[in-house]
Amino acid sequence: MGTIEIIEKKKNGEELTYNELKYIVEGYVRGDIPDYQMSAFLMSVFFAGMTKKETADMTKVMAESGDKLDLSEIKGIKVDKHSTGGIGDKTSLIVGPIAAACGLKIAKMSGRGLGYTGGTIDKLESIPGFRTDIDRSEFIKNVKDVGLSIIGQTDSLCPADKKIYSLRDVTATVNSIPLIASSIMSKKLIDGSDRILLDVKCGNGAFMKTLDEARMLAEEMVDIGENIGKHTVAMITDMNKPLGRNIGNSLEVIEALDVLDGKGPKDLKELCLTMAANMIVLGKKADSMDIAMIMAEGAIDDGSAKRKFAEMVKAQGGDQTYVYDTTKFKLSDKVIKVTSPDSGFIVSTNAEEIGRASVMLGAGREKKDSVIDPGAGIIMKKSFGEKVEKGEIIAEVYSSGIEKCQNAEVMLQKAIKIGAEKPAPCKLIYERIEHIR
Ligand code: URA
Repeated sequence: MGTIEIIEKKKNGEELTYNELKYIVEGYVRGDIPDYQMSAFLMSVFFAGMTKKETADMTKVMAESGDKLDLSEIKGIKVDKHSTGGIGDKTSLIVGPIAAACGLKIAKMSGRGLGYTGGTIDKLESIPGFRTDIDRSEFIKNVKDVGLSIIGQTDSLCPADKKIYSLRDVTATVNSIPLIASSIMSKKLIDGSDRILLDVKCGNGAFMKTLDEARMLAEEMVDIGENIGKHTVAMITDMNKPLGRNIGNSLEVIEALDVLDGKGPKDLKELCLTMAANMIVLGKKADSMDIAMIMAEGAIDDGSAKRKFAEMVKAQGGDQTYVYDTTKFKLSDKVIKVTSPDSGFIVSTNAEEIGRASVMLGAGREKKDSVIDPGAGIIMKKSFGEKVEKGEIIAEVYSSGIEKCQNAEVMLQKAIKIGAEKPAPCKLIYERIEHIR
């Protein structure tokens, strides 16, 4: 068995064995298999797909590339939440603190921006001093003391996902069901959580464009979760428009804090409350969704969710003053206001294109070693379904270079369509997938 034979076999659509997958993944983590061969392997998976058994084996092999977190010393049911990625998707920054304020213990391993979507780790790192690479004992201590800690993959926790994730990001191999399922579920296998809530995004800004694809990904991940004994629920949610109004790292933290203050966009708040309520029920802190919703709303109203966020920031070395004064976040200094070419309604928003514009502005990576500009991004002044007048500002774009702003302006003009008729509202949540046990 050798790397070329394995790539060839996958390219020809054959099923790989557990040992072949282990050979490829471990070889890549050790540095014996170079990026160019791993890229070819990932591209062959992208085109040939994987059987359910292969995806489950790939998940296992990736999880086994590092250590397992033992959270047994933390009492109670640990519930984790993970999104498949979208534009403006800052839900983890809101749902985590709400769930922690309602008594859950949240030990979360997140990722960086992937493709044209943002990542929780990059967003948190826009808070000066915030460390997402704390060691295991600090992580466990923070979960115990604060109720919430969020870290990235490390060289000892899911190193395979850490390396493969950043390679997929720059080789156009992100939107593959087996690669997404194994990436997400390998982290869930080792992170010590007991129950998992998955947010599977569906629509033009998601990796899964159709409901059928989103359902397939959701079912695959729910099966993997249940097979490893972790009760897993998936919600398929809309990504045909950016979630909320802000896209970009600092901008998304600011908006998340707005929601924790009881303000912020309605779609984002509603989705976060529903996700948090699902976690509260999964963690047995409430026995009905109605009660869980009241608890989640209460955590925003009484300020306890925001305090949890601030405590997490402090515990991970971040400057807590940013939490209470978001004007301290510095946005990039070049700004262009994008105006509407016509009067009418916003009838469609191509969220993928808007995400690509935000990456180009500096909020994401175009190469593995690209440096993120935390102040770059987009504020959607007008959103799907809203009325606009000709010449009215529909978005603001922020970057360190004016040319990037100009390019983003062109991209947004193409991505946002104005029509005469008010469109029917988008659904926020399409389906909830839970296997009866
Ligand atoms: N989130 C992950 O952790 N991995 C993916 O592949 C997509 C979203």
